Amino acid sequence: MKGIVLSGGSGTRLYPMTRAANKQLLPVYNKPMVYYSLSTLMLAGCRDILLVVNPHDVEAYHRLFGDGRQWGLAISYAIQDRPGGIAECFLLGRTFIGNDRVGLILGDNLFYGDALPALAERGAQASGAVVYAYWVADPEAYGVVEFDASGAAVSIVEKPKEPRSNWAVTGLYFYDSDVCDVAATIPRSARGELEISDVNAHYLKQGRLTVEKLGRGYAWLDTGSPVSLLRAAQFVETVEERQGLQIGCPEEVAWRKGYIDNEGLARLIEPIKQSEYGKYLQRLLTRG
Ligand code: G1P
Repeated sequence: MKGIVLSGGSGTRLYPMTRAANKQLLPVYNKPMVYYSLSTLMLAGCRDILLVVNPHDVEAYHRLFGDGRQWGLAISYAIQDRPGGIAECFLLGRTFIGNDRVGLILGDNLFYGDALPALAERGAQASGAVVYAYWVADPEAYGVVEFDASGAAVSIVEKPKEPRSNWAVTGLYFYDSDVCDVAATIPRSARGELEISDVNAHYLKQGRLTVEKLGRGYAWLDTGSPVSLLRAAQFVETVEERQGLQIGCPEEVAWRKGYIDNEGLARLIEPIKQSEYGKYLQRLLTRG
């Protein structure tokens, strides 16, 4: 299964934090933001990953992930010269996607919930387009999905001034390979971008869109402003410290899913064994 992580953009709402550092490399409590989204794609079963990054950040991402082999993944990179909208990744990633189904996650989205692995696996294995809706207090900041009385999705609108519901479309999506053709035909929006909401609206019109609601047992957090970044960190810290279990730990996901064995995990621990993170991985090895 293939997956794309969007890690480009200018992160202007986080200036000056993002003046010199890429937004998705900023920490959310104890790990880089992008670890959370990558882990979610891994839970969905994606092992062949394309990271879409800014030209000047490729080197940093390479230092962080390399070719992904250490985690049982194949990670490659696509460079986005300037932000052109989420759906642009399907133009950049056409060769990568080929004839396969593909998952897409925004590198600043954090998902949490007991049933998340099963939910994401289902989305990965379905057909057509699958998106997830989450009830939020401020829907106007997102793509918004409207449902009819029978619960069927009837419209998707990007950042509406007057939202038709509180259901925001989250930053996790699954598509058939024809998403590349769809992205190539939609016009650019008023802000000059290829909007993912237009891609989703296209699938909706074709009757090929599934919208899954994430109920109240899930947390969907974004990290686009200083306060939401802080809250996401506090959320992760609260849950992790209570349980002694990490959220968004790609090494753990790789090990639990059998992408790497005990020896592979031990090799990852060695250079970082002094850190809390390294000690956590070591505890996994000794106690399971
Ligand atoms: C983007 C999408 C929007 C979606 C949101 C989720 O918004 O355009 O449809 O609801 O991500 O995080 P942006 O990050 O461009 O504000």
